[in-house]
Amino acid sequence: MRNFKYYNPTKIVFGKETISRLDSLVPRDARVLILYGGNSAEKTGTLDEVRSALVNRTVNRTVQEFGGIEANPTYETLMKAVELIRNSEVNFLLAVGGGSVIDGTKFVAAAVNFAGEPWRILEEGGSLVQSALPFGTVLTLPATGSEMNSSSVITNKAKQAKRDFMSPFVFPQFSIMDPTKTYTLPLRQVANGVVDAFAHIMEQYLTYPANGMVQDRFAEGLLQILIEIGPQAINASDNYEIRSNLMWVATLALNGLIGAGVPQDWSTHYIGHELTALYGIDHARTLAIILPATLKICRESKRAKLLQYGERVWGITSGDEEQRIDQAIAYTRGFFEDLGIQTHLSDYNLGVDDIDRVVKQLEAHGLTQLGENRDITLDISRQILQASL
Ligand code: NZQ
Ligand code: ZN
Repeated sequence: MRNFKYYNPTKIVFGKETISRLDSLVPRDARVLILYGGNSAEKTGTLDEVRSALVNRTVNRTVQEFGGIEANPTYETLMKAVELIRNSEVNFLLAVGGGSVIDGTKFVAAAVNFAGEPWRILEEGGSLVQSALPFGTVLTLPATGSEMNSSSVITNKAKQAKRDFMSPFVFPQFSIMDPTKTYTLPLRQVANGVVDAFAHIMEQYLTYPANGMVQDRFAEGLLQILIEIGPQAINASDNYEIRSNLMWVATLALNGLIGAGVPQDWSTHYIGHELTALYGIDHARTLAIILPATLKICRESKRAKLLQYGERVWGITSGDEEQRIDQAIAYTRGFFEDLGIQTHLSDYNLGVDDIDRVVKQLEAHGLTQLGENRDITLDISRQILQASL
């Protein structure tokens, strides 16, 4: 196992009716800005619950709101929140929504006191961030793990670029996770959440053996839970046990725990981000397209882990090595398809001509050496995209 540091300061408050705890979680003297997305939080009543929990502060006029953060949150919209905060006394942020609202809030928190053009945080990485406003979250969509990590992914519409940053300053102080808040999710978003969490685990697990016994068994267990409850979560929208397990798996998939001390391969996410930026395909759907093709193209460097994954996660024990690997990849693709998520570029009306565009964007963003061995060059990314057709 590799050396590692593990730090995660986010307090999780999990369960039914936990939004009512907000008043004790938000600091007494805070001047709060609630950030939310489109109209789902209003329509579902979650925003009203948040307002009621903070009612005493509303009376004192210490709570303001900023809505309209898009799915795949944009720099353009978020900079309006930055302006608002710079011209006010707001000193605490509260994100109410899914990964997009939480990621957007992280960016806003880091950008408010940033000297210079805040897009540089995305271009040059989170190391430029020296401070951030404190914030908490109320999670409404299990998928990204953003509620318990220090990553944020932001889209710049003008540049057609989707970039990420990480900084220890943007861990949420707390996250409220009430699984009943997911009951209103469209099935498409539930399926997206299952696939996103699945891909997060795979990208920290399916590399080469590093003798991370804990990390491997945790990862395999989390994958098996998703395989078991993913289809049930789609069929039963108000099953508390299923939804609570889905919510917790998605958090553990990307809160740093299973990735500590082991190699990681985020190439599927990086290629996927270009597809979202260029064509607007949902984040999780880009992963469902790219992941099976990445496993296929990188089967030699991932051979040992592919065999382990096939055996321990899918119970594949018969056939020669090639057959077992083929089967493990086919089961992965089949799992996504069974959730109603198509896995080929052609399913999204993209063809050979689009591959050049995506590869050019990877090059422009300096993503020329991806993967656990940094050997996914532009040429290999092209092969992956070709295998995704
Ligand atoms: O905008 P509203 O009206 O709120 O509707 C949202 C949105 O349209 C809706 N929704 C959310 N909760 C709901 C609900 N509808 C009904 N009931 C509810 N309870 O769902 C739609 C999708 O929401 P979004 O927040 O975009 O989804 P998700 O949580 O999947 O987040 C995706 C974003 O997170 C980034 C992705 O790239 C993408 O931009 N990621 C962030 C990561 C991180 N911070 O660590 C890691 C991930 O890999 C990912 O890249
Ligand atoms: Zn993701």
